[in-house]
Amino acid sequence: MGSGSDAFLSPAKSHLLSQAHGTILDIGAGHGSSFKYLSLDKLTRVIALEPNEHMHPKIRAAATEALFAADQVEITSLPIERILEKYPAGSVDVVYCNLVLCSVTDPELAVRNAHALLKPGGKLMFLEHVRAEDAEGQEKQDWISRYWCWFFDGCRLNRPTDRWVRGLEWAEIDMKPLTPEEERGTYFWHVQGVCTK
Ligand SMILES: C[S@@+](CC[C@H](N)C(=O)[O-])C[C@H]1O[C@@H](n2cnc3c(N)ncnc32)[C@H](O)[C@@H]1O
Repeated sequence: MGSGSDAFLSPAKSHLLSQAHGTILDIGAGHGSSFKYLSLDKLTRVIALEPNEHMHPKIRAAATEALFAADQVEITSLPIERILEKYPAGSVDVVYCNLVLCSVTDPELAVRNAHALLKPGGKLMFLEHVRAEDAEGQEKQDWISRYWCWFFDGCRLNRPTDRWVRGLEWAEIDMKPLTPEEERGTYFWHVQGVCTK
């Protein structure tokens, strides 16, 4: 599904990631699809967090294709729930995640760790599908979620990830639904957010 979702989310990814600077940590980097949106001249270091080690060669290839130097890019297998074992709190300028928090084991710990990793003024940038705003969408999500997660690697359609993110301490929150007209009453509700610590 990687290339289909990349095409759908491409304008939003481009908008978010073109602002990334300094050190960025990409939670659940997958195939490394974020590299082509990153500005080489603004970034000093990219940490790609990906527990599935089969993806690591693809991430490395995407980084090379985007002209990042090998020593600018670290790939780690740690899940976001354990990230503070390796990277200290307050050490990262941008934490980014795209379609990841729907399937991590402990999403509330994941967002707390993302927040902890950021320096003051650092930004959490995310594109995620979350619990729908409308009753019809919520009902559909609750019904399908118990089956959906078997077929899509533990993905839960009805997680209120945006609410958990809002519950943390931010200096500024800029969060909005991506395509509300198209998605109202459906199984999906995508949100785009930039939260500044
Ligand atoms: C749907 S894919 C999205 C990949 C990529 N972000 C993209 O947009 O193409 C979700 C990714 O999250 C990773 N993942 C799952 N649990 C994780 C965790 N606890 N911490 C970090 N990454 C995780 C999976 O291995 C998978 O590569």
